[in-house]
This record gives sequence, structure tokens and C-alpha cells, in this order.
Amino acid sequence: MTRLRTAILISGRGSNMDALIAAARDPSFPADIALVLSNRPDAPGLAKAKAAGVATAAVDHKIYAGREEFERSLQIVLETYRINFICLAGFMRMFTPWFVGQWRGRMLNVHPALLPAYRGLDTHERALADGAKIHGATVHFVMPEMDEGPIVAQAAVPVLDDDTPETLAARVLAQEHVIYPMALQLVASGAVRVEGKRVLGAPAPDDASLIVPDATLARRRIS
Ligand code: GAR
Repeated sequence: MTRLRTAILISGRGSNMDALIAAARDPSFPADIALVLSNRPDAPGLAKAKAAGVATAAVDHKIYAGREEFERSLQIVLETYRINFICLAGFMRMFTPWFVGQWRGRMLNVHPALLPAYRGLDTHERALADGAKIHGATVHFVMPEMDEGPIVAQAAVPVLDDDTPETLAARVLAQEHVIYPMALQLVASGAVRVEGKRVLGAPAPDDASLIVPDATLARRRIS
């Protein structure tokens, strides 16, 4: 089996990165994490990746005149490491259509909401303000439009009465860590295909708890 040489792009703490690196430690996992790349040289995730024995690099977006100049440098680093797949994991820069075009069908992102609801920032604050009862996380292929693209995996969590943006974010993040490695495995193994906006071919989840992981907790609170 040839494992996909994957780069994880981060801007911050890198907890999704940790989950992907941990999954890829299994030699039968179809992707190998060959690089962690950040646009912020001080991103805490870089030190964690280094400690885990993964190659790291930083391309500081602030020193470039424009988005495309920055992306051309990213591209050179990615080619140097012979990367053929990208996982965005808390990478907080928008890409130009040029960069997305280079990686079409070969770049995933994790977003802290059930897309197409709550694209953009402050998803947990907005879900609470709207009175949503269900919230969650999405892993999707990246398209030029922000937080758009065929959905590979989603997990839903309940919104509880005493939630704050922080408690809700933590419940969602725990599910991001479950679905991101699962989505990378599905894509890297070739188990799924994209038809229009749909990603087809994934086995139906046989465990209802994957869909609403805290459903039992929600039920307990009602009775
Ligand atoms: C995650 O919650 C991820 O979904 C979010 O940033 C956090 C990164 O955490 N990404 C976005 O909001 C992108 N639109 P991490 O660095 O611990 O993985």
C-alpha cells in the first residue's frame, strides 16, 4: 500500500493535528503525515509536531505582499516535501482560487459547525445565540468559497442549557478529533468518491452514537 504523503496546515494549537498524527502512527493507515506547516512561526502546534517526530516548516504570511505570493512559497515547501495531500487543521488563512486549484480533490478542512450552517468564525457563539439544539463538526473537501465543498464526515452534538461557547466548543472539538482521522482514512484509502456536492461510498454509520455522541446525556437530562 502506498500511503498518501500528507501535510497538515495549522495556525494554532494543533489538537486536530495531534489526532491525525496519532491515527497515522498505525502503519495500515492510508496516509503518512510527512509535514506540519504553519503560517505562524510561533504556532504551539509546531513544537508538538516536532516532539512527535514530524517534519515542520513555517511560512510567515506577514512578510508577503499578497495572498498569492504567500501561497507560491507554501507550494514550493509542499513540493519540496513531495506532498500529495493536505489537511487543513485550524489553518486560519483564506486561499486564492489558484492555490485551491492546485489541490482540488486533494485538500480537506475541518470546520466547527454542521455545514452548510455557520460558515465562518464564532460558530459556537452564533449557534447559542440562535437557540440551536444540535451543533457539530464537519470535514469537507476545500473549494475556493469559504467553508464550502463536498462533505466527507459530520458529527452532531447536543447544545445543553448551561452551555457557554467554551463548553460547546470543547464538546464539538472532541468530535472533530474522531471524524477527521476517519474522513482522511476514507479519502486516502479511495473508499469514497465525489459526485457533485456529495461524497458517496462511505459505509453507513452502524453506531448511532457517532451521529449524536452525547444523546444519552441529553436523554438523562430530560427524564
Ligand atoms: C478547530 O475547532 C477547527 O475546527 C477550527 O479551528 C480549531 C482549531 O483547533 N477551524 C476553523 O474554524 C476553520 N474555519 P486545533 O488547532 O486545536 O485543531
